[in-house]
Amino acid sequence: MNERDSENIAANFVDLGWELSKDENEADAIVINTCSVREQAETKAIGKLSHILSARKSSGKALPVIGVTGCMAQNLGEEIVRRLPDIDFVIGSRKTHMVAETAAKIYARILSEETPLSGLQRSSPAGEKRAFVDVSDDESSHLLINRHLKSGPCASISIMQGCGMKCSYCIVPKTRGQQRSRPEADILAEARALISAGAKEILLLGQVVNAYGENIEAFPKLLEDLSGIEGLLRLRFTSPHPVFFTDRLVNLYGTLPQLCEYVHLPLQSGSDKILKEMRRPYRAEKFLEIVEKLRARAPQISISTDIIVGYPGESDEDFEKTLEMFKKCAFDMAFIFKYSPRAGTKSAEIPDDVPSDVKEQRNQILLKELARTSLEYNQRLVGKSEEVLIESPARRGENIFMGRTRTHRKVVFPASANDIGRLADVDIKSATVTTIEGEICRLR
Ligand code: 5AD
Ligand code: SF4
Repeated sequence: MNERDSENIAANFVDLGWELSKDENEADAIVINTCSVREQAETKAIGKLSHILSARKSSGKALPVIGVTGCMAQNLGEEIVRRLPDIDFVIGSRKTHMVAETAAKIYARILSEETPLSGLQRSSPAGEKRAFVDVSDDESSHLLINRHLKSGPCASISIMQGCGMKCSYCIVPKTRGQQRSRPEADILAEARALISAGAKEILLLGQVVNAYGENIEAFPKLLEDLSGIEGLLRLRFTSPHPVFFTDRLVNLYGTLPQLCEYVHLPLQSGSDKILKEMRRPYRAEKFLEIVEKLRARAPQISISTDIIVGYPGESDEDFEKTLEMFKKCAFDMAFIFKYSPRAGTKSAEIPDDVPSDVKEQRNQILLKELARTSLEYNQRLVGKSEEVLIESPARRGENIFMGRTRTHRKVVFPASANDIGRLADVDIKSATVTTIEGEICRLR
């Protein structure tokens, strides 16, 4: 979602006549779009910002304009200015559509010190720096995330903003606010425009993407309506929530030809006790049921998940249940996170009592299991022919390109630049945990 927001910000700059720089050392403005989900993400963003701010200081130059946006900006607000007094702006995740305009105003102000811009002074009369800070809400922000850069065959659309769930550990409802869905007509128009501009695959984005719209039927309907658009070859979405994964949604697999057989379905924990404490309103059994229904509907489907290890009070027994579910669901991919208390969340009020070495151990156990299942999954592909959408040159030398299978596996193969955006049948020749190699046997 942040990548999509960043693209929107970049497109806003382009709309104002700016160009994207390939090299941050040559940029006139640098915007860091941030995440708050775990402490590590915030630490990294602060580190990066202080590095570019001190590089600017030691260069003795007034440029680039340097600002921060996204969830960390929303979450920490003025605190960022206290920690990084040289920063030019802090704009929260509700106002990312204001970033380009604000940076451009600060830029203009620096170029011509005479033109005062209220609220955007880089320096006060005393010469000290003052950042522009805006972390206020904007109820219509979800209507303003529809700008795109001209890019390859894969495009994403944010269909909503915010999150209406209350997971105890999660900062997202605080930073991104209540769930707001975009009108279906706007999404369809955006999809049509992207497809006319060359997109073949569309990824729909939302914190709880299947809770889109007024009611539980709205999301399946949106998928059906998007599938009706001429020229769309593939459709994906992320991330759904188990609670809104209805049978109607399951049954779209194998029914809508564009809907790709890949689901990222966050489990978080396999222990019902921990799920309850996390305020995740489903039980492990229910989750497994969805996985089984999906596999029955589309046997080749790939399913991945998110897991948090070391949530407060997670006992060895609770963790065993997660491991057991991990095996039962046979995830082909997973993101495993060590619990990180976030100030302002419900769970931050209880002690973070699982020692860090235990968190690490549990993390390693799941990673090991994952390496086994994902290697198995990849190796099952060897000798098969897979439909691949040719996306871009691979970083592996000349004439090697990358694309993804319908199940979202990345495959590399020899091809030519003219083939980008085409579907191909690729014979899979070899597979490791990280790399699948093949050869095109037929371009469609
Ligand atoms: N600590 C660790 N992981 C977290 N996630 C969300 N909040 C936290 C936290 N406080 C994980 C969840 C979510 C993913 C995006 O990040 O697994 O699905
Ligand atoms: Fe966070 Fe839960 Fe919302 Fe996901 S569903 S963004 S984990 S509160």
